[in-house]
Amino acid sequence: MKRLDVESIRRDFPILNVKMRGHDLVYLDSAATSQKPVQVIDSIYQYYTNYNANIHRGIYELAELATDAYDGSKDKVAKFINANSMEEIVYVMNTTEAINLVALSWGEENIKEGDHILISEMEHHSNLVPWLLLANRKKAILDYIKLDESKTMIDMESLKEELEKDPKILAISHSSNVLGTINDVKAIGSLAHKHGAKVLVDGAQSAPHMPVDVRDIDCDFFAFSGHKMLGPTGIGTLYAKKDILNSMPPVIGGGDMIRTVEKYACTWNDLPWKFEAGTSNIEGGIGLSAAVDYLNKVGMGNIYAHERDITEYALKRLSEISNVSVFGPDYNSMPNRSGVISFAIEGVHPHDIASIFDSMGIAIRAGHHCAMPLVTELINEAAVARMSFYLYNRKDEVDRAIDAIAEVKKIFKIGR
Ligand SMILES: Cc1ncc(COP(=O)(O)O)c(C=O)c1O
Repeated sequence: MKRLDVESIRRDFPILNVKMRGHDLVYLDSAATSQKPVQVIDSIYQYYTNYNANIHRGIYELAELATDAYDGSKDKVAKFINANSMEEIVYVMNTTEAINLVALSWGEENIKEGDHILISEMEHHSNLVPWLLLANRKKAILDYIKLDESKTMIDMESLKEELEKDPKILAISHSSNVLGTINDVKAIGSLAHKHGAKVLVDGAQSAPHMPVDVRDIDCDFFAFSGHKMLGPTGIGTLYAKKDILNSMPPVIGGGDMIRTVEKYACTWNDLPWKFEAGTSNIEGGIGLSAAVDYLNKVGMGNIYAHERDITEYALKRLSEISNVSVFGPDYNSMPNRSGVISFAIEGVHPHDIASIFDSMGIAIRAGHHCAMPLVTELINEAAVARMSFYLYNRKDEVDRAIDAIAEVKKIFKIGR
């Protein structure tokens, strides 16, 4: 592992120079969306400045340049997650759309009345609502793998019990956006496969932060968002094994996704284009490509190690403060947890915490984090505050957050 040169990385992110409320910005909300390096911003500028054209249509040079850049980005994304080829890479808007596409296409074909669909209690709404909708449409049954007593990890006994019902699909997050838990999706998926289930991994919080190898995980589907991994908004990826994609019907029809169209019949384009109707998010693909280049240059293993280092430091500092609780595995029970730390300060609403942080130039998130069953039912809080780290964060920014907690406690006259 190579220690990150965080100062040089930070110089690539223009936004880190802005002042917020008169302070140097401390951005601790990368789980919501990451900041963008100049290389990504510039790639989009270059596209519009030098080779803007529609793709897959024109036979002039400008169109070829745009097509090569867009299609080339898929090769990069395929390598980034170790897919077999770009045929397995479908561009969508984001993780949410990727999972909805699976539910609408694969789900419509394969889920029947009385079938079981399995998710876990720690899912983001993106990996819950599409399954609930599908279950309702099909009169299928949505089941949940319970969390263990600590309310931080998957209960493996519950997983095994639920798998006895032979669900048709298991959809689970790789890394929780609330708890920071990293699920062993390879082991979980292998158990699910033994019961004949397809396995979908929600990689929204893993692909940006750690090396991902979809072939090693052996998942059938893997979904992630460009905007959480230094790329632009509006571009995300659905990876799926080629034979499964081949068996799935398209959901959205129009230009580019067809091979032939007659008045009353069509044939579909090759993978992955069969799932991408209409003009693509060309700037998105180009920006994502630059983001992948950037991440590869820094090294995903190095990024992961850097975040673990900061997270360990933050957890240690938080554990030294009274009246603060952290929701998620502690470092001893899960040293490989991610850099997402949800916390509460006794007697203070998380929105007040976030407002006071904001007054000190620190951006954190407060709310149910689109995981209401987890936050409101299991953690039993209406909302929690959350800080999340990325490659550009430093330990002194953790110190600023710790100072902000002291300020919150002072304002609300809490503890010592
Ligand atoms: C675990 C997880 N899944 C899915 C999503 C949805 O991502 P998007 O809003 O980019 O579709 C998020 C976003 O925060 C997430 O954290």
